[in-house]
Amino acid sequence: MPVYFAPGRVNLIGEHTDYNGGFVFPCALDFGTRLTVTPNGGRTLRFRSENMPGQVELPIDSPFKPLPDRSWVNYPLGCIAQLAEQAGGLDTGYDLLFDGNVPLGAGLSSSASIEVVTAYAFNDLLQLRLDRKRLALIAQQAEHTYAGVNCGIMDQFVSACGRQDNAVFLNCDTLQFDYVPLRLDNVSIVLTNSHSPHRLDAGTYNRRVSECREAVRAISRVRHIRQLANLSVSDFNDLQSAITDEVILRRARHVVTEIQRTRDAVTALKDNDLALFGQLMNRSHQSLRDDYEVTGIELDTLAETAWNVPGVIGSRMTGGGFGGCTVSLVRNEAVDLFRQTVATAYRQVTGLQAEFYIARTGDGAGMLS
Ligand code: GLA
Repeated sequence: MPVYFAPGRVNLIGEHTDYNGGFVFPCALDFGTRLTVTPNGGRTLRFRSENMPGQVELPIDSPFKPLPDRSWVNYPLGCIAQLAEQAGGLDTGYDLLFDGNVPLGAGLSSSASIEVVTAYAFNDLLQLRLDRKRLALIAQQAEHTYAGVNCGIMDQFVSACGRQDNAVFLNCDTLQFDYVPLRLDNVSIVLTNSHSPHRLDAGTYNRRVSECREAVRAISRVRHIRQLANLSVSDFNDLQSAITDEVILRRARHVVTEIQRTRDAVTALKDNDLALFGQLMNRSHQSLRDDYEVTGIELDTLAETAWNVPGVIGSRMTGGGFGGCTVSLVRNEAVDLFRQTVATAYRQVTGLQAEFYIARTGDGAGMLS
């Protein structure tokens, strides 16, 4: 019985830049989703998860289509549909058992890890020999057509291509990437789960995607651009008056400045300048709060409290926003103080209990046995 694994991720900087053709800088985590898959000799796919009740059974002989009510099965099904088509159909049914330890709703890409582990497994089982980039694109397409979220490529890409002890500096336009070693001597990557009831739903996410497209259309009236990543910060300053809607202007400003911050942050890390890296993380959060408006009281309280704790190098929301986690770089000797201070302030302001994890990086998708 083959067992496969694909990780969740944390993005260190470069938020809401991927669907604008910009840079991101995530790393794969050592938690993720495991998939045990066995051919069952029948004509159905049977989906089960250790994390969800029940079983979903689907015939392999009728065309696959998305299931209603935002079923989790859409994530794997959207991948299997594409790979089965490439293989000219499935010869047998399969039993699939998923088992994940990515905290759900924490913005750490549990859904991407489900998609990527499925794409990786069926690429292997159907002997399609597609490379990891291609599998990431298939997983992203599943999210678009089966889950209705017009997401960028970051989550699926790093889940497929991540490498332990490295972050991935990815150009989301060309999909060229570099591994950058995370040399964090005596510094921990701490994830703080807000457990916020607010979620980044598909509607809000897709609205940000269309706001960015509107900015591209407005700028293109004075200079043709394909995407916001075609603008440097100084281009943006010169051309911004072409955007007359104040909200669209702020959305574009976030994207253009965030792409520059991501470049600067990677340079800072390569230069071993963690202090600058941390400042850029903080500025990223401010821009997501003020210009992109995807934070909210929970994530703001977590990040802003962290900024004032001695030994915290930087702190920001990570992932899509609203709920989910912050990511903080914290000197090891300050981790306890960080947890106490942040947990107390967070409880006082929101009445919620924050949860902390020390992140460990991991490798991209693979076969376990
Ligand atoms: C979600 C999406 C990604 C990316 C982030 C924001 O995680 O799936 O593609 O857009 O939000 O950076």
